Amino acid sequence: MSIIKIHDKEFVPYLSAESIRNRVNELADAINNDFSGKRPLFIAILNGSFMFAADLFRCLTIESELCFIKLASYRGMKSSGKVVTSIGLEEDIFGKDIVIVEDIVDTGKTLHHFLPKLLHQQPRSLKIATLLHKPEATQFPLTLDYIGFSIPNKFVVGYGLDYDGLGRNLKEIYQLK
Ligand code: IMP
Ligand code: MG
Repeated sequence: MSIIKIHDKEFVPYLSAESIRNRVNELADAINNDFSGKRPLFIAILNGSFMFAADLFRCLTIESELCFIKLASYRGMKSSGKVVTSIGLEEDIFGKDIVIVEDIVDTGKTLHHFLPKLLHQQPRSLKIATLLHKPEATQFPLTLDYIGFSIPNKFVVGYGLDYDGLGRNLKEIYQLK
């Protein structure tokens, strides 16, 4: 791994594919344990979480369901401030154990807008799993139940996360130089 360029910016290696894989395994172990005997529905937020969701889901041994919704508040490197739902939730979540799957919680705005809509439908329980968390960026506090890595408030790409559309295919996570 070495420095890479995406659009106009340089990025340096930050989390290796192996460390991500190990951590995703640990999160899956915790979820398998916490939800044993239950049948949670995982709601993964597109686009960024697709890779994390796939790898996490692959490590689950409990009965579980998975669906995707699309929410976005980011344009380029800064949150646009608006949260847009472009693919909505079709599943009935009443009485279900829900686990939201996010790539990264930054300001918290995306989930802050989305959670009340979910809670309104009265799931039995609602947990949040995020691969990355930037605690210093918090503007909308949330209780995060499963956190892969807490990271500094610097822009990252790779493993599903993009910079203006590019970088999602990288197996590692890179940080803005
Ligand atoms: P929030 O609503 O501010 O918490 O931002 C959540 C969304 O912004 C995430 O799901 C990502 O899609 C995107 N995002 C936040 N920080 C980064 C980053 O460092 N790199 C790439 N995308 C990010
Ligand atoms: Mg996202």
